[in-house]
Amino acid sequence: MTAKIIDGHAVARHVRQECREATEALKRRGVHPGLAVVIVGDNPASQVYVANKIKACEEVGLKSTVHAFAADTSDGEIEACIQRLNADPAVHGILVQLPLPSHFDVRRVLGAISSDKDVDGFHLYNVGGLVVGDNTIFPPCTPFGVQKMLEYENIPVEGQNVVVVGASNIVGKPMALMLMQKDATVCICHAKTRDLAQFTILADILVVAAGKPNLILPQMVRHGAVVIDVGINRLPNGRLVGDVDFEGVRQKASYITPVPGGVGPMTVTMLVHNTVQSASRFAQNAAGL
Ligand code: GUN
Repeated sequence: MTAKIIDGHAVARHVRQECREATEALKRRGVHPGLAVVIVGDNPASQVYVANKIKACEEVGLKSTVHAFAADTSDGEIEACIQRLNADPAVHGILVQLPLPSHFDVRRVLGAISSDKDVDGFHLYNVGGLVVGDNTIFPPCTPFGVQKMLEYENIPVEGQNVVVVGASNIVGKPMALMLMQKDATVCICHAKTRDLAQFTILADILVVAAGKPNLILPQMVRHGAVVIDVGINRLPNGRLVGDVDFEGVRQKASYITPVPGGVGPMTVTMLVHNTVQSASRFAQNAAGL
């Protein structure tokens, strides 16, 4: 068996087209969806991510603003900026680019974002919504993107064995909760898991977000499994790879995502989706619906 490669760019184009149409409809009703991005310090990777987010907003027709601060800015100044954005009716989504410089209390900063503008889905209210299965919250963008890819390819989730490798707050934990909500049987593995292969071999759907090149080898994957690689690793030779031995595993899997060009394009796309969703909720509330 050779796996079908899930083209993240194609799925992202499809979702962005839906967002573009929804944005045009909102603009006709006088609501122009807006995203505000707060960035602190000069982390080069963060600067690239923020530039990509702004570009994606422009492509779909959203308004975006960047609020850039020096690394030695105080918590109070960042929180004051967030409070202004919370109160600004032209802003429907607020995102604080992570990581923040080490002197910040990240929980406190993220907690200052109004939960109904928290398009990254990192506020505890939105995290709690994932736990109880409330579909009015903002799901975090990367696992939401994975879920969209599975839907786009008509891959069933209900009753499937899902193994998530990586237990981060941004990907692994929310991914597990979202797939549990769709009635999958979910197992989370992490850096302390003994004999990872005894778990991964059971997976009908394997989602890997560990940040380790070649962590997943063909002998760890069941024939016909769906393999979603969320990892992005730069090798010493400059090549970008995921966490999965792509060439080996594609011989056994039924579906596989490449790196680059798999989950990556979906993360930014779902941020745009969440912002349009937020603007549409604001428009409904303003109309008293
Ligand atoms: N840094 C790495 N990934 C993310 C993300 O999804 N959102 C934010 N705000 N920062 C990040």
